[in-house]
Amino acid sequence: MPAAQKEAFQRKFDKVNSIIERHGGKVSNLIAILQEIQSEYRYLPEEVLTYVATALGIPPATVYGVATFYAQFSLKPKGKYVIKVCDGTACHVRGSEKLRYVIREKLGLDESKDTTDDLKFTVETVSCIGACGLAPVVMVNDRDVYGQLTPEALSIVLDQLIAKEKTSDAGGDGPAGHGTAGNKSPASNAAGNDVTRGDATRDSAARDGREEGGRR
Ligand code: FES
Repeated sequence: MPAAQKEAFQRKFDKVNSIIERHGGKVSNLIAILQEIQSEYRYLPEEVLTYVATALGIPPATVYGVATFYAQFSLKPKGKYVIKVCDGTACHVRGSEKLRYVIREKLGLDESKDTTDDLKFTVETVSCIGACGLAPVVMVNDRDVYGQLTPEALSIVLDQLIAKEKTSDAGGDGPAGHGTAGNKSPASNAAGNDVTRGDATRDSAARDGREEGGRR
């Protein structure tokens, strides 16, 4: 193994070790440990799961069992922005399928590929997220909710996220994604530019007799 790779590998386990220590090295804290590891890496690498099992003194199958049982855990790398498109009943009848199409078109994804090659974006379809009054709804990073979205409004939101990432890559201020807490979030930027209350979204609001709404 090349030295740089070995060093990166060691660093990875250093982080895992500190997470395990923070949870007292207790098997009863396994879910919390896995949550924190996923927050750190955006997914649960296989070798890390094996390492956790060894560190906690339990069979790897136990750790894998927990990691695969709960939908919150992913064994595949995810993008910096995880875009969840709600396809619950309310969102489905109000056009969630079109929103999924816009996202996949814009990000170059398809049904067999849900994460961009640069690991910037992942798109997921979820069931009701409890904001049916704002249907159709898209949520970014389990935090920023965009409601009453039309394909046009969503396209603008995506353009802003993509532009933010380009600025971030060029050395400018990055958005508040995983591990970048404290920076301005893409959603607050979008709201500041009135994206989710643009014409297309207002049309949607008018349809429902609601002029207020959008992201919350
Ligand atoms: S169906 Fe989408 S938020 Fe409830």
